[in-house]
Amino acid sequence: MAKTFDIALESLGPQPTAVEKPAPLPLRGASEAPADAKSFYIETFGCQMNDHDTEKVEGLLLARGYQHVSTPAQASLVLYNTCSIREKAAQKVFSRIGDWKTLADGKIVGVLGCVAQQEGEGIFERAPWVSLVCGSASYTKLPDLLDQVEAGNHRVTGLSLDTDETFETELTRRDNRYRAYITIIEGCDYSCAYCVVPKTRGPERSRRSDAVLDEARRLADSGFTEIQLLGQTVNSYRDPSPRGMNFVELLRAIAADPGIQRVRFTTSHPNDFHQGIVDAIDEIPALCDHVHLPVQSGSTRILKAMRRTYTRDEYLEKVASIRAARRPISITSDIIVGFPGETEEDFQDTLSLLTASQYDGVYSFKYSPRPNTPALSMDDAIPEDEKSRRLAALMEHQRQIQMARNEALVGSSFEVHVDGHNPQKKVWGGRTSCNRLLNFTSPLDTLLGKYVSVRVTRAGPNGLFGEHAV
Ligand code: 5AD
Ligand code: SF4
Repeated sequence: MAKTFDIALESLGPQPTAVEKPAPLPLRGASEAPADAKSFYIETFGCQMNDHDTEKVEGLLLARGYQHVSTPAQASLVLYNTCSIREKAAQKVFSRIGDWKTLADGKIVGVLGCVAQQEGEGIFERAPWVSLVCGSASYTKLPDLLDQVEAGNHRVTGLSLDTDETFETELTRRDNRYRAYITIIEGCDYSCAYCVVPKTRGPERSRRSDAVLDEARRLADSGFTEIQLLGQTVNSYRDPSPRGMNFVELLRAIAADPGIQRVRFTTSHPNDFHQGIVDAIDEIPALCDHVHLPVQSGSTRILKAMRRTYTRDEYLEKVASIRAARRPISITSDIIVGFPGETEEDFQDTLSLLTASQYDGVYSFKYSPRPNTPALSMDDAIPEDEKSRRLAALMEHQRQIQMARNEALVGSSFEVHVDGHNPQKKVWGGRTSCNRLLNFTSPLDTLLGKYVSVRVTRAGPNGLFGEHAV
């Protein structure tokens, strides 16, 4: 679920300069739209799954003749694709919707995504100016729901979680010109005590392998060379078609497409992570050498309370199997501090797990109590200031690990998939296969979308800087 590990760039030593991303692909349909066409604005909160859902919704609206505009004021339809993983994210959504209290006149305001699914019709009570509430499992029904809103119905919902229909991905409008997301599995069948996802995104549903492979083929044909497979528990993939592919077979089949140079996947659940995945990465250069494997806590006692289905030692065995690969594979993780009942000793176990795992990046969060989750009723809440102290200590510990790991890379060369350029600073940017941000200088001036070899000259905790060796 996490993005990449270039977040938290704040004052951590020499940092890669921010480079501008090129404009997304031209919006299909926008140029053909008449001057008086309906227009939409959409803002996205949360994870990569939400980013990709927004791409799907945009494609669908463009196909219906809507024009995309870049400010909500210009739009006749204002949509928020929301996240409710932590309370702060959900609060932000309500403050955004609140902006329309007196201004919504004549506009359609809609709430999509996890907050929509979680709060349902309650949103209409809280914000009567909202007329559409639709969860991610119901996006296939959006055209129908919009028809209802346009016909004057002011309380339209799409909240069913048991839909088997898959989104018509041919319409999807891609945000990045070079790297495309493909959802291979939706929802989640785990029941981690702190997590809203099984309620907001519904039960686990894998897509048919033929649909996934067709989409990959079409993307390669239209010039995408990097594919990122998405799923809340991506490695739990089980092909529902008679072909019955498992996750590794699917990875191998996508990587075998000659047009595709890189395949990534996120997020892996430790329970479904096995040697076959490591072997595949070892064998196939097109499979990126990076695994995002969230542990959440380093204390077996807390893992049990979180219902994470593995112990600290079992998790560390998976890490050891990745570190034993012939190809160095970077590992990143998610950590929650301050889960109910977490003692100082439990927290120290998490710090020592960071040392043992030698992560290349970590997303860390203070535990946030969420509605309809088992952890909500647990005793022994940790005070907010103690959670903050633990978070700061954890981030500092991890910063030192990352700094040392990145410094060890100075002098080596990496292949970078270039996707950004800052012409003023004459800096290019992109990602290594191991998902590090690498900014660099080059004597050449047409590099976007290319794969180039870059020698690392400097390191920061969150990225690298180098020179293109021409
Ligand atoms: N509080 C804090 N962090 C959470 N996450 C999920 N639910 C919560 C919560 N209630 C974190 C987990 C997950 C990441 C996407 O968000 O670490 O892996
Ligand atoms: Fe949430 Fe756990 Fe499912 Fe991940 S595996 S989405 S943390 S319930």
